[in-house]
Parts: sequence; structure tokens; C-alpha cells
Amino acid sequence: MNAIARETSAASPFDLEASDAWQAWRAARLERGMPTSEDLSVPLVDAARPVEGELAALRERIRRHNLAFYRCAPSAGELGRRGFADLCGALGFDRPDPHECADEDGISALQVCGAGRRAGYIPYTDRPLSWHCDGYYNPPERRIRAMLLHCVADAREGGENLFLDPELLYIRLRDENPEWIAALNDPRALTIPANVENGVTLRAASTGPVFSVDPRSGHLHMRFTARTRSIEWRDDPVTRAAAQRIHEILAEEGPGVLRHRLAPGEGVICNNVLHARTGFTDDPDAAGHRRLIYRARFPRRVPGT
Ligand SMILES: [Fe+2]
Repeated sequence: MNAIARETSAASPFDLEASDAWQAWRAARLERGMPTSEDLSVPLVDAARPVEGELAALRERIRRHNLAFYRCAPSAGELGRRGFADLCGALGFDRPDPHECADEDGISALQVCGAGRRAGYIPYTDRPLSWHCDGYYNPPERRIRAMLLHCVADAREGGENLFLDPELLYIRLRDENPEWIAALNDPRALTIPANVENGVTLRAASTGPVFSVDPRSGHLHMRFTARTRSIEWRDDPVTRAAAQRIHEILAEEGPGVLRHRLAPGEGVICNNVLHARTGFTDDPDAAGHRRLIYRARFPRRVPGT
């Protein structure tokens, strides 16, 4: 890099050498505070066709906290799958990232599946889902940077979601021990072994960092799962200590963690923040409460955030 380029390119706050940029970014991020889910919620009159003021209110919350909720007006009727796709389009997204369990439109319908391939994946059961960011098993070129959930129906009991902006976790870890950040930035930090079914490789092994910086936007990206089975952390004491600390922080549900049970007609729009789900119980009969969530994920952040 020549002298001019060095002068004009601002240092990334996520560079461990860039102390001034880091301190400035850290102060600005902490100043935004820790909102409640109500603070982050935006009512939408017609969610399939949000108006500019509604979109601006959503973007403003996501810019500040990487997360917003929306609530459909009951008078608009059920949003539906097509309406959910229209909302994604109105936010400026193209087609969702194709996932092995998604349907043709790229949207996954998360509900308890008693049989078939989906039944083997925890999201399609009523069991708790531990903390993770979506797509942690994807190869680096298919990072997931945005994720939306829309609740069509809730369970009879349980099925709460928890959310935490990875920026807040990053600040806490870097404050406590910058060496942990260096270990988590390492491209060998976390390996998800291949997904092999009946001798057929459905997904290759994925090795990469926990924290990385989106080269396009300069924003922080987190790749993480709190699963302990079928996960290989780099065999090195600092990486192990860093992973252990992340587990502790998430388990204590400390500052910044939002617990929210999505009601029918409510949804989440986020830059793939950390999230978890508690277990739930559906009604046994089809006419009762049976949790159904639509999910879409995208390779880019929420446009305009
Ligand atoms: Fe998820």
C-alpha cells in the first residue's frame, strides 16, 4: 500500500492493532444502549407492502442494533408465505440463500416434522436450539449475513427466542482478553465436520474463523454454534479458553440478551445476530397451536444497514 492509500483508508476497528479506531467504534456502539424488544418493534399496516416510513423505522433499528421486530396489523390478515417473500423484496433483498431444507422459493417452513430428512435437523423438532448464527456450516463464500423469521403460529407452550448482537459479545471478549479475539479471528478456529448421510456427502467440512470482517461493508461477521457435538474447535489453549468464555457469557443471559416469544403475525429482521430457541410443546391436533415459522436468509446484510 502506498502512502496516499494509507492516509485515506480508515483503519478497521476490528484490527487488533488499531487502538484509536477500536476505542471510537466501541464507545459509539455502547452509547446505543441495550433496548428492549418493544423498543425494537415496528408496527406494519400491510407487511407485504411496507411504506417508506415503516422501512426507515426498521432500518434505523437494525443499523443501531443489527435487529428489529415487526408486528403485522391484525386487520391485514395473515401475511402468508408469498407476503413474507414480498416483505423481503421490499427490504431490498433478492432471492433467499438456497438451503437443503428450504422450499423452491428459498423460504424454510420451520415446524415439527415427524418424518423425512427434515426430522433429522433440530430446527424441525420441538427441542431447544442452542445459541448460533445461521449458516455457520456454510463455506466462506456462502456466508449468511441477514436472516428473517416470521411467526405464522405459536406453540401451545414455550418456543421463546433469545437474541444477542455479536458486536456486544465481541466488545466483552476484547475487553476481557484481546488474545481471545486473535484466536477467534484465526481461519482454523472452528471446524464443522462434513454432513454425510448414507455415505453421500451432503455438505463438505467447513473450517473458518469465528469473527471476520465483511470486505464489502467493513462490518463484523460472526460464525458460531454452541453445539458441542460434531464441532471441532482448534486444539490450542487460547482458542479453547475463548470458546469456553463465549459459552459462559451466553449461558448467563447477561446484558444485551433479548428474550422474546414471537406471537402470530410477528417477525424478526436481523443481520444474522446470535440467537437461540427454547423447547416447546405443540397441541397434538392439527386445529390447535402448532408452531410454524417462515425463515429466509441472505448472503448480504439488510440493505441500507
Ligand atoms: Fe437459526
